[in-house]
Amino acid sequence: MRHLIDFMDLDVEELYTLIGSAERIMEHPEDYAEACHGKKLATLFFEPSTRTRLSFEAAMLELGGSVLGFSGADSSSAAKGESVADTARIVGLYADIIAMRHPLEGAPLVASRKAGVPVINAGDGGHHHPTQTLGDLLTIWRRQGRFWGLTVGCCGDLKYGRTVHSLCAAMSRYPEVRFVFISPEELRVPDYLKSEILDPAGVKYREVSSLEEAMPELDVLYMTRIQRERFERPEDYARLKDSYILDPEKLRTAKESLTVLHPLPRVNEIAVAVDDDPRAAYFEQALCGKYMRMALILKLLNERKTPARPGRETLSLPRRCGNRRCISTVEQELPQQFYRTAAGQYRCRYCDAVLDAEE
Ligand code: CP
Repeated sequence: MRHLIDFMDLDVEELYTLIGSAERIMEHPEDYAEACHGKKLATLFFEPSTRTRLSFEAAMLELGGSVLGFSGADSSSAAKGESVADTARIVGLYADIIAMRHPLEGAPLVASRKAGVPVINAGDGGHHHPTQTLGDLLTIWRRQGRFWGLTVGCCGDLKYGRTVHSLCAAMSRYPEVRFVFISPEELRVPDYLKSEILDPAGVKYREVSSLEEAMPELDVLYMTRIQRERFERPEDYARLKDSYILDPEKLRTAKESLTVLHPLPRVNEIAVAVDDDPRAAYFEQALCGKYMRMALILKLLNERKTPARPGRETLSLPRRCGNRRCISTVEQELPQQFYRTAAGQYRCRYCDAVLDAEE
Protein backbone atom coordinates (compact mmCIF):
# COMPACT_ATOMS: atom_id res chain seq x y z
CA MET A 1 0.00 0.00 0.00
CA ARG A 2 1.47 3.35 -1.02
CA HIS A 3 0.68 6.62 0.82
CA LEU A 4 1.95 10.19 0.47
CA ILE A 5 2.59 11.68 3.90
CA ASP A 6 5.83 13.62 3.38
CA PHE A 7 6.87 15.01 -0.02
CA MET A 8 10.25 13.32 0.43
CA ASP A 9 8.46 9.94 0.25
CA LEU A 10 8.71 10.55 -3.53
CA ASP A 11 12.10 10.20 -5.17
CA VAL A 12 13.38 12.42 -7.99
CA GLU A 13 12.45 9.87 -10.65
CA GLU A 14 8.90 9.57 -9.36
CA LEU A 15 8.49 13.33 -9.41
CA TYR A 16 9.47 13.51 -13.09
CA THR A 17 7.03 10.68 -13.82
CA LEU A 18 4.23 12.55 -12.02
CA ILE A 19 5.08 15.75 -13.91
CA GLY A 20 4.96 13.85 -17.22
CA SER A 21 1.67 12.26 -16.25
CA ALA A 22 0.14 15.62 -15.19
CA GLU A 23 1.21 17.25 -18.46
CA ARG A 24 -0.33 14.41 -20.48
CA ILE A 25 -3.60 14.80 -18.55
CA MET A 26 -3.52 18.57 -19.23
CA GLU A 27 -3.04 18.00 -22.96
CA HIS A 28 -5.50 15.10 -23.37
CA PRO A 29 -8.02 15.17 -20.50
CA GLU A 30 -10.45 13.07 -22.56
CA ASP A 31 -8.05 10.11 -22.38
CA TYR A 32 -8.41 10.09 -18.57
CA ALA A 33 -12.13 10.79 -18.22
CA GLU A 34 -12.90 7.22 -17.14
CA ALA A 35 -9.55 6.33 -15.55
CA CYS A 36 -11.04 6.11 -12.03
CA HIS A 37 -14.49 4.89 -12.97
CA GLY A 38 -16.03 3.09 -9.97
CA LYS A 39 -13.45 4.47 -7.50
CA LYS A 40 -14.22 6.76 -4.57
CA LEU A 41 -12.08 9.47 -3.00
CA ALA A 42 -12.86 10.52 0.59
CA THR A 43 -11.82 14.06 1.50
CA LEU A 44 -11.51 14.28 5.28
CA PHE A 45 -10.88 17.94 6.02
CA PHE A 46 -10.72 18.75 9.73
CA GLU A 47 -9.44 22.26 8.86
CA PRO A 48 -10.69 24.86 6.37
CA SER A 49 -9.57 24.64 2.75
CA THR A 50 -10.63 25.95 -0.64
CA ARG A 51 -7.94 24.89 -3.13
CA THR A 52 -6.77 21.61 -1.71
CA ARG A 53 -10.16 20.07 -1.00
CA LEU A 54 -11.90 21.30 -4.12
CA SER A 55 -8.98 20.49 -6.40
CA PHE A 56 -8.83 16.96 -4.98
CA GLU A 57 -12.56 16.61 -5.59
CA ALA A 58 -12.34 18.10 -9.09
CA ALA A 59 -9.37 15.82 -9.81
CA MET A 60 -11.31 12.68 -8.89
CA LEU A 61 -14.45 13.80 -10.74
CA GLU A 62 -12.42 14.56 -13.89
CA LEU A 63 -10.95 11.06 -13.65
CA GLY A 64 -14.47 9.62 -13.71
CA GLY A 65 -14.53 8.69 -10.01
CA SER A 66 -16.77 9.83 -7.15
CA VAL A 67 -16.13 11.79 -3.96
CA LEU A 68 -17.44 11.75 -0.41
CA GLY A 69 -16.25 13.41 2.76
CA PHE A 70 -16.58 16.36 5.10
CA SER A 71 -15.15 19.84 5.28
CA GLY A 72 -14.92 20.48 9.02
CA ALA A 73 -14.27 18.57 12.22
CA ASP A 74 -17.70 19.68 13.52
CA SER A 75 -19.53 17.69 10.86
CA SER A 76 -17.73 14.41 11.64
CA SER A 77 -17.72 12.22 14.74
CA ALA A 78 -14.41 13.82 15.69
CA ALA A 79 -16.70 16.33 17.41
CA LYS A 80 -17.84 13.45 19.66
CA GLY A 81 -14.26 12.48 20.44
CA GLU A 82 -13.61 9.78 17.79
CA SER A 83 -9.91 9.21 17.21
CA VAL A 84 -8.16 9.77 13.87
CA ALA A 85 -7.30 6.06 13.77
CA ASP A 86 -10.95 4.97 14.13
CA THR A 87 -12.15 7.58 11.63
CA ALA A 88 -9.60 6.35 9.08
CA ARG A 89 -10.47 2.71 9.68
CA ILE A 90 -14.15 3.42 9.06
CA VAL A 91 -13.64 5.62 6.00
CA GLY A 92 -11.32 2.98 4.52
CA LEU A 93 -14.38 0.71 4.41
CA TYR A 94 -16.25 3.22 2.26
CA ALA A 95 -13.61 4.73 -0.03
CA ASP A 96 -10.69 3.58 -2.22
CA ILE A 97 -8.37 6.49 -1.35
CA ILE A 98 -8.34 9.22 1.30
CA ALA A 99 -7.08 12.81 1.30
CA MET A 100 -6.83 14.17 4.86
CA ARG A 101 -6.18 17.64 6.25
CA HIS A 102 -5.85 17.91 10.01
CA PRO A 103 -4.59 20.59 12.42
CA LEU A 104 -2.56 18.01 14.38
CA GLU A 105 0.86 17.09 13.04
CA GLY A 106 1.16 13.40 12.25
CA ALA A 107 -2.60 12.77 11.92
CA PRO A 108 -2.38 11.56 8.27
CA LEU A 109 0.46 9.19 9.27
CA VAL A 110 -1.80 7.68 11.94
CA ALA A 111 -4.61 7.41 9.37
CA SER A 112 -2.31 5.67 6.89
CA ARG A 113 -1.60 2.92 9.42
CA LYS A 114 -5.28 2.08 9.89
CA ALA A 115 -7.19 2.98 6.72
CA GLY A 116 -6.32 -0.04 4.57
CA VAL A 117 -6.40 2.28 1.51
CA PRO A 118 -3.89 4.88 0.28
CA VAL A 119 -3.82 8.06 2.39
CA ILE A 120 -2.65 11.42 1.07
CA ASN A 121 -1.60 14.13 3.50
CA ALA A 122 -3.49 17.27 2.45
CA GLY A 123 -1.78 19.35 5.18
CA ASP A 124 -1.09 18.50 8.83
CA GLY A 125 -0.66 21.55 11.05
CA GLY A 126 2.63 23.34 10.37
CA HIS A 127 4.27 20.09 9.32
CA HIS A 128 3.81 18.83 5.72
CA HIS A 129 1.67 19.67 2.67
CA PRO A 130 3.15 17.44 -0.03
CA THR A 131 0.52 17.93 -2.73
CA GLN A 132 1.02 21.70 -2.53
CA THR A 133 4.68 21.06 -3.30
CA LEU A 134 3.69 18.90 -6.27
CA GLY A 135 1.73 21.83 -7.72
CA ASP A 136 4.53 24.27 -6.91
CA LEU A 137 7.08 22.14 -8.73
CA LEU A 138 4.93 21.64 -11.82
CA THR A 139 4.50 25.42 -12.04
CA ILE A 140 8.24 26.02 -11.71
CA TRP A 141 8.89 23.32 -14.31
CA ARG A 142 6.47 24.86 -16.79
CA ARG A 143 7.69 28.42 -16.22
CA GLN A 144 11.45 27.88 -15.85
CA GLY A 145 11.96 24.63 -17.78
CA ARG A 146 14.33 23.24 -15.15
CA PHE A 147 14.92 22.90 -11.42
CA TRP A 148 18.73 23.01 -11.37
CA GLY A 149 20.59 26.30 -10.98
CA LEU A 150 17.60 28.35 -9.82
CA THR A 151 17.77 31.03 -7.13
CA VAL A 152 14.62 30.71 -5.05
CA GLY A 153 13.48 33.47 -2.69
CA CYS A 154 11.12 32.40 0.09
CA CYS A 155 9.39 35.33 1.75
CA GLY A 156 7.18 35.75 4.82
CA ASP A 157 6.46 33.14 7.47
CA LEU A 158 9.36 30.74 7.03
CA LYS A 159 9.02 29.33 10.54
CA TYR A 160 5.51 27.86 10.40
CA GLY A 161 5.15 27.78 6.61
CA ARG A 162 4.92 24.07 5.85
CA THR A 163 4.85 24.72 2.10
CA VAL A 164 8.22 26.49 2.26
CA HIS A 165 9.81 23.63 4.22
CA SER A 166 8.64 21.04 1.69
CA LEU A 167 9.68 23.20 -1.28
CA CYS A 168 13.18 23.69 0.18
CA ALA A 169 13.60 19.96 0.77
CA ALA A 170 12.36 19.16 -2.73
CA MET A 171 14.52 21.77 -4.51
CA SER A 172 17.62 20.81 -2.50
CA ARG A 173 17.82 17.63 -4.56
CA TYR A 174 18.84 19.58 -7.70
CA PRO A 175 22.33 20.94 -8.42
CA GLU A 176 23.26 24.56 -7.90
CA VAL A 177 19.95 25.63 -6.41
CA ARG A 178 20.32 28.62 -4.05
CA PHE A 179 17.87 30.00 -1.52
CA VAL A 180 17.36 33.51 -0.22
CA PHE A 181 15.21 33.42 2.93
CA ILE A 182 13.40 36.73 3.44
CA SER A 183 11.63 37.05 6.78
CA PRO A 184 11.45 38.94 10.05
CA GLU A 185 13.86 37.65 12.69
CA GLU A 186 11.06 35.83 14.56
CA LEU A 187 9.89 33.89 11.50
CA ARG A 188 13.21 32.59 10.19
CA VAL A 189 13.45 29.06 8.75
CA PRO A 190 13.82 26.45 11.49
CA ASP A 191 17.34 25.31 12.31
CA TYR A 192 16.59 21.69 11.39
CA LEU A 193 15.95 22.74 7.78
CA LYS A 194 19.48 24.11 7.60
CA SER A 195 21.28 21.42 9.57
CA GLU A 196 19.45 18.38 8.22
CA ILE A 197 18.49 19.32 4.66
CA LEU A 198 20.37 22.31 3.22
CA ASP A 199 23.81 21.84 4.80
CA PRO A 200 24.13 18.08 4.10
CA ALA A 201 23.12 18.70 0.48
CA GLY A 202 25.67 21.53 0.20
CA VAL A 203 22.93 24.01 -0.73
CA LYS A 204 23.89 27.68 -0.49
CA TYR A 205 21.47 30.05 1.25
CA ARG A 206 21.39 33.39 2.97
CA GLU A 207 18.90 35.04 5.31
CA VAL A 208 17.83 38.65 4.81
CA SER A 209 15.01 40.85 6.02
CA SER A 210 14.64 43.02 2.90
CA LEU A 211 12.59 41.82 -0.07
CA GLU A 212 13.88 44.71 -2.17
CA GLU A 213 17.50 43.68 -1.55
CA ALA A 214 16.89 40.10 -2.69
CA MET A 215 14.64 40.81 -5.68
CA PRO A 216 17.15 41.31 -8.57
CA GLU A 217 18.82 37.91 -8.16
CA LEU A 218 15.68 35.74 -7.92
CA ASP A 219 14.37 33.25 -10.51
CA VAL A 220 11.49 32.20 -8.29
CA LEU A 221 9.84 34.25 -5.53
CA TYR A 222 7.68 32.16 -3.18
CA MET A 223 5.49 34.51 -1.12
CA THR A 224 3.69 33.19 1.96
CA ARG A 225 0.97 34.37 4.29
CA ILE A 226 1.73 35.18 7.92
CA GLN A 227 -0.58 32.52 9.38
CA ARG A 228 -2.75 33.85 12.19
CA GLU A 229 -3.79 30.29 13.15
CA ARG A 230 -0.20 29.25 13.96
CA PHE A 231 0.43 32.02 16.55
CA GLU A 232 -0.19 31.44 20.23
CA ARG A 233 -0.12 35.20 21.07
CA PRO A 234 -2.40 37.44 18.94
CA GLU A 235 -0.11 40.43 19.58
CA ASP A 236 2.76 38.63 17.82
CA TYR A 237 0.54 38.06 14.77
CA ALA A 238 -0.59 41.71 14.78
CA ARG A 239 3.02 42.92 14.87
CA LEU A 240 4.23 40.71 12.02
CA LYS A 241 1.26 40.34 9.70
CA ASP A 242 2.11 43.17 7.30
CA SER A 243 5.85 42.51 7.14
CA TYR A 244 5.96 41.99 3.36
CA ILE A 245 3.62 43.22 0.67
CA LEU A 246 4.65 42.57 -2.93
CA ASP A 247 3.52 45.36 -5.26
CA PRO A 248 4.42 46.50 -8.81
CA GLU A 249 7.01 48.93 -7.46
CA LYS A 250 8.93 46.14 -5.70
CA LEU A 251 8.87 44.07 -8.91
CA ARG A 252 10.60 46.88 -10.85
CA THR A 253 14.06 45.42 -10.21
CA ALA A 254 13.04 41.77 -10.74
CA LYS A 255 14.10 39.62 -13.70
CA GLU A 256 11.71 39.46 -16.65
CA SER A 257 11.76 35.68 -16.24
CA LEU A 258 10.88 35.72 -12.52
CA THR A 259 8.14 33.30 -11.42
CA VAL A 260 6.04 34.64 -8.53
CA LEU A 261 4.38 31.88 -6.53
CA HIS A 262 2.09 31.86 -3.49
CA PRO A 263 0.30 28.76 -2.14
CA LEU A 264 -2.72 30.99 -1.45
CA PRO A 265 -4.92 32.08 0.24
CA ARG A 266 -3.33 35.52 0.29
CA VAL A 267 -4.41 38.14 2.75
CA ASN A 268 -2.45 41.17 1.60
CA GLU A 269 1.05 39.81 0.87
CA ILE A 270 0.58 40.38 -2.86
CA ALA A 271 -1.21 43.48 -4.10
CA VAL A 272 -4.03 42.71 -6.55
CA ALA A 273 -2.23 44.98 -9.05
CA VAL A 274 0.46 42.27 -9.39
CA ASP A 275 -2.07 39.73 -10.71
CA ASP A 276 -1.83 41.07 -14.27
CA ASP A 277 1.97 40.94 -14.33
CA PRO A 278 3.08 38.06 -16.59
CA ARG A 279 5.44 36.94 -13.83
CA ALA A 280 2.53 36.24 -11.46
CA ALA A 281 2.01 32.46 -11.54
CA TYR A 282 -0.04 31.81 -8.41
CA PHE A 283 -3.39 31.15 -10.09
CA GLU A 284 -1.70 28.85 -12.61
CA GLN A 285 -0.05 27.18 -9.58
CA ALA A 286 -3.48 26.35 -8.11
CA LEU A 287 -4.48 24.77 -11.43
CA CYS A 288 -1.20 22.83 -11.62
CA GLY A 289 -2.10 21.47 -8.17
CA LYS A 290 -5.24 19.89 -9.57
CA TYR A 291 -3.37 18.16 -12.40
CA MET A 292 -0.67 16.87 -10.06
CA ARG A 293 -3.38 15.55 -7.71
CA MET A 294 -4.92 13.73 -10.68
CA ALA A 295 -1.55 12.19 -11.50
CA LEU A 296 -1.01 11.26 -7.85
CA ILE A 297 -4.44 9.64 -7.41
CA LEU A 298 -3.78 7.51 -10.50
CA LYS A 299 -0.33 6.55 -9.22
CA LEU A 300 -1.46 5.57 -5.73
CA LEU A 301 -4.52 3.64 -6.89
CA ASN A 302 -2.42 1.64 -9.31
CA GLU A 303 0.60 1.04 -7.09
CA ARG A 304 0.20 -1.80 -4.67
CA LYS A 305 3.71 -1.92 -3.16
CA THR A 306 5.79 0.67 -1.38
CA PRO A 307 9.25 0.78 -2.99
CA ALA A 308 11.91 -0.66 -0.72
CA ARG A 309 14.11 2.18 0.56
CA PRO A 310 16.37 2.38 3.57
CA GLY A 311 13.89 3.45 6.23
CA ARG A 312 14.25 4.97 9.65
CA GLU A 313 14.17 2.55 12.53
CA THR A 314 11.22 3.36 14.80
CA LEU A 315 12.26 3.44 18.46
CA SER A 316 10.16 3.19 21.60
CA LEU A 317 11.61 5.32 24.37
CA PRO A 318 10.13 5.98 27.82
CA ARG A 319 9.46 9.60 26.82
CA ARG A 320 6.60 11.70 25.45
CA CYS A 321 6.70 14.11 22.50
CA GLY A 322 6.65 17.67 23.81
CA ASN A 323 4.97 19.23 20.75
CA ARG A 324 1.48 20.40 21.71
CA ARG A 325 0.42 20.27 18.06
CA CYS A 326 1.45 16.60 17.67
CA ILE A 327 -1.27 13.94 17.31
CA SER A 328 0.55 11.74 19.84
CA THR A 329 0.34 14.49 22.46
CA VAL A 330 -3.40 14.97 22.00
CA GLU A 331 -4.49 11.37 21.34
CA GLN A 332 -2.71 9.92 24.33
CA GLU A 333 -3.37 6.24 23.62
CA LEU A 334 -1.07 6.34 20.56
CA PRO A 335 2.27 4.64 21.17
CA GLN A 336 5.11 7.15 21.57
CA GLN A 337 7.53 6.51 18.71
CA PHE A 338 10.81 8.16 17.80
CA TYR A 339 13.69 7.86 15.38
CA ARG A 340 17.33 8.89 15.52
CA THR A 341 18.69 11.39 12.98
CA ALA A 342 22.11 11.19 11.34
CA ALA A 343 23.13 14.02 13.72
CA GLY A 344 22.21 11.84 16.72
CA GLN A 345 19.02 13.67 17.73
CA TYR A 346 15.85 11.82 18.65
CA ARG A 347 12.74 13.01 16.86
CA CYS A 348 9.06 12.17 17.15
CA ARG A 349 7.94 9.74 14.44
CA TYR A 350 4.62 11.59 14.03
CA CYS A 351 5.58 15.27 13.96
CA ASP A 352 9.42 15.19 13.63
CA ALA A 353 9.82 17.45 16.68
CA VAL A 354 13.15 17.05 18.45
CA LEU A 355 12.89 15.30 21.79
CA ASP A 356 14.18 17.74 24.39
CA ALA A 357 17.13 16.61 26.46
CA GLU A 358 15.92 14.89 29.63
CA GLU A 359 16.00 17.15 32.65
N1 CP B 1 -2.80 26.29 -0.61
C1 CP B 1 -3.73 25.70 0.16
O1 CP B 1 -3.48 24.69 0.85
O2 CP B 1 -4.95 26.31 0.10
P1 CP B 1 -6.24 25.87 0.91
O3 CP B 1 -5.95 26.06 2.37
O4 CP B 1 -7.35 26.73 0.39
O5 CP B 1 -6.47 24.41 0.62
